[in-house]
Amino acid sequence: APTRYEAENGTRSTGSTVDTNHKNYSGSGFVNSNNAVGAYVEVTVNAAAAGNAAIAIRYANGTGANRPADVSVNGTVVSAARAFDATANWDTWADSTLTVAVKAGSNRIRLASTTADGLANIDYIDFDGASGGDTQAP
Ligand code: GCU
Ligand code: CA
Repeated sequence: APTRYEAENGTRSTGSTVDTNHKNYSGSGFVNSNNAVGAYVEVTVNAAAAGNAAIAIRYANGTGANRPADVSVNGTVVSAARAFDATANWDTWADSTLTVAVKAGSNRIRLASTTADGLANIDYIDFDGASGGDTQAP
């Protein structure tokens, strides 16, 4: 099973806030980034071993338009200007899933806006070290 890393427990760009004014989020809130190029959320995940890991980024985007972001692992962009397409409204969340290579131990996963609109609202990142294994029992 994946390990959940709540966005509100990570780090975020100045001007971003942890909000609760939309429904259906996990944990104690979600991150509403500042609306700027480079606005970011970063979580540090733990991998039991090096290998490929599956991540699911939970987000909401009620604007009707894409909010692209660079996804990076340990400072290297692994998915450039990844689309975070519109969801039905700000209360409706979707998963953006991808596979990333990680090293054993701590890995920094960052979402950084590539437009002046900032990020979609970010709820959490689920991390599953499929081949490397995560820190939870299977
Ligand atoms: C609204 C919404 C926020 C969102 C923001 C945005 O203000 O309530 O949750 O982050 O729009 O467009 O970024
Ligand atoms: Ca915002």
